[in-house]
Amino acid sequence: MDKLIINGGKRICGDIEISGAKNAAVAILPAAVLASKGVCTIENIPDIEDVRGVLKILESLGCKITSGDNYAVINSENINTCKADIDEVKGMRGSYYLLGSLLSRFKKASVDMPGGCSIGVRPIDQHIKGFEALGAKVQIEHGVVRVEAERLVGSNIYFDVVSVGATINVMMAAVLAEGTTVLENAAKEPHVVDVANFLNTMGANIKGAGTDVIRITGVDELRGCTYSVIPDQIEAGTYMIAAAACGGQVRIRNVIPKHLESISAKLIEMGVEIIEEDDFLVIKSDGKLKGVNIKTLPYPGFPTDVQQPMSALLSIACGRSIINESIWESRYKHLDELKKMGANAKVEGRIAIIDGVQKLTGAEIRATDLRAGAAMVIAGLIAEGTTVVTGVEHIDRGYPKIEEKLSKLGADIRRIKSEDKRSLI
Ligand code: EPZ
Repeated sequence: MDKLIINGGKRICGDIEISGAKNAAVAILPAAVLASKGVCTIENIPDIEDVRGVLKILESLGCKITSGDNYAVINSENINTCKADIDEVKGMRGSYYLLGSLLSRFKKASVDMPGGCSIGVRPIDQHIKGFEALGAKVQIEHGVVRVEAERLVGSNIYFDVVSVGATINVMMAAVLAEGTTVLENAAKEPHVVDVANFLNTMGANIKGAGTDVIRITGVDELRGCTYSVIPDQIEAGTYMIAAAACGGQVRIRNVIPKHLESISAKLIEMGVEIIEEDDFLVIKSDGKLKGVNIKTLPYPGFPTDVQQPMSALLSIACGRSIINESIWESRYKHLDELKKMGANAKVEGRIAIIDGVQKLTGAEIRATDLRAGAAMVIAGLIAEGTTVVTGVEHIDRGYPKIEEKLSKLGADIRRIKSEDKRSLI
């Protein structure tokens, strides 16, 4: 497995370009199976493992795909199976969007239980509740989820928890249903809106995405279209934190500043200067930061996916910071790794208490999941001496070319490919 070697303590300066949003792309690509006519050209897709995985799954269903630099052209006219069971299905969360999209178009789907980051129990009861309300039968046997319906009929669905996945999945299931579906207590994340915009560009009739009530009026068919994925809110947040951590001045390009408000607000509270323009942010920091308290919440609250990178920054901020992780119950594994570098953190249930230390010191640390990996990289950038990050395959699932992007800013970070392991010694 690859490793990242980071020599910390360098200021970073310059411009960094944010890629398309992972969590939008892994939903939009499966939604392309809804086009019974024409091709979907999806642009601004990030060059990450999860996207490569989704494309392989789509090919296994019979989609014809051509892909290149940050785009994929998907022809779903001749899908020949509704069974998604290749290894990639179990390796990511986004594969469960095929339940909603295939159910919608073919009235049936069989998808292996999705995987993804190990950050707590990840139930799909709200997805099932939504599918059943539309008239589908759902069975889970031997690790496979099967959904089937004679017909799908619009319904009123009130989600018991705010769930990104359930909102998107049930929205996809409802786009071709007879009549109107109303989703209440829906998730409002930017990627929920992006998927709705994509479906509307294909001919769907979805209103209210981005609010907690989404109305979907079923249409007869969806067709191919050209669509560009929004910039990644979480990748942008991660690099905002990296810039704050290293001191210096970084321009973060291709962002939607509105999506980053909760992150900007916390960084400003910590003493970071942020200049906001139409599609870029400038982050200025002298590296002197003060601790803050954070509670992760559904959008527009502080995103759970940025909690881990943020805690690396808080570990060197002056004073005590308290984090309340309200979305995932075990998203603190990275703190044990940060402690190897000298961080002073303890966890009590969903609360983490971090007392800022003067410095972190380089160590061999492991990325236990995707955003934990981002936290490890940020810790390595801050730390005195050399840090070796293992578990890089998790980082590659969601951050395109992380070492290239950071090197361009002046960070001393390089990748050792698994086959070159000897050069480490
Ligand atoms: C999406 O996961 C993201 N993944 C996650 O990002 C992100 O952390 C999460 O949303 C919250 O923003 C993708 O988009 C692929 P949820 P998802 O359903 O959809 C509970 C990353 O780092 N819940 O919004 O799986 C659940 O247990 C990843 O990129 C139910 O109880 O999350 C959690 O507490 C990690 N029943 C809460 O809702 C359900 O049926 C939010 O989960 C579904 C969810």
